[in-house]
Amino acid sequence: MTLPIGVLISGSGSNLQALIDRMEAGVLDVTIQTVISNIPGVKGLERAANHGIPSLTLSHGDYPDRESYDRVLVRALRDAGAQAVVLAGFMRLVGPELLAAFPGRVLNIHPALLPSFPGLHAQDQAAEYGVRLAGCTVHFVDEEADHGPIIIQATVPALPGEGAEELGGRILALEHRIFPQALQWLAEGRLDVQNRHVVVRPGERPLATRNGLPPCLVFPPLEEGF
Ligand code: GRF
Repeated sequence: MTLPIGVLISGSGSNLQALIDRMEAGVLDVTIQTVISNIPGVKGLERAANHGIPSLTLSHGDYPDRESYDRVLVRALRDAGAQAVVLAGFMRLVGPELLAAFPGRVLNIHPALLPSFPGLHAQDQAAEYGVRLAGCTVHFVDEEADHGPIIIQATVPALPGEGAEELGGRILALEHRIFPQALQWLAEGRLDVQNRHVVVRPGERPLATRNGLPPCLVFPPLEEGF
């Protein structure tokens, strides 16, 4: 069964685009009921329009506090028929109200190997720190920033002397693969969480063997089509 979702964005929406592309390729079984941005005029809104996906802007500055903003988000997501929520570069913390409205059904992508480098500018933090491996994480959202149970992570080597921009670009390319995969697992009802450990139940799709990527480790493994 197709999972109706809402996607929250704040910017370029390249992760939103990755979801749309996988949907249109027939490997991601969701429908994007609405795209909501907290920032007006961002490229992600244009991407939604290009694919006939309804979108709206709800500026957080128009609301007195996080609770009232979250209430408006919940209403908009419910009105659109969303049953799960995907934070695709949404640069706001979501609060208990939204999490309670979609329990176990809010996913976030973060451009670092959590629990390293939570928060803003994770790619810069990793490049500055001098890590050897960087990467990205898709996780369930809980009340702490970049903290909930981890669904999938992917790594890239951080090359000596490489700047945050170059590293971030390679991380982003992997974000675009693991985010649709994690969402497909959610859509198929294959994710179980036990004591913050996420179990991905086996599916029917064969594991991906394609490897045109820079050396990387993806675990659990990607399945064909992602
Ligand atoms: C991504 O790096 C994502 O991990 C982070 O914000 C960025 C959003 O990029 N949360 P985009 O808007 O999807 O292009």
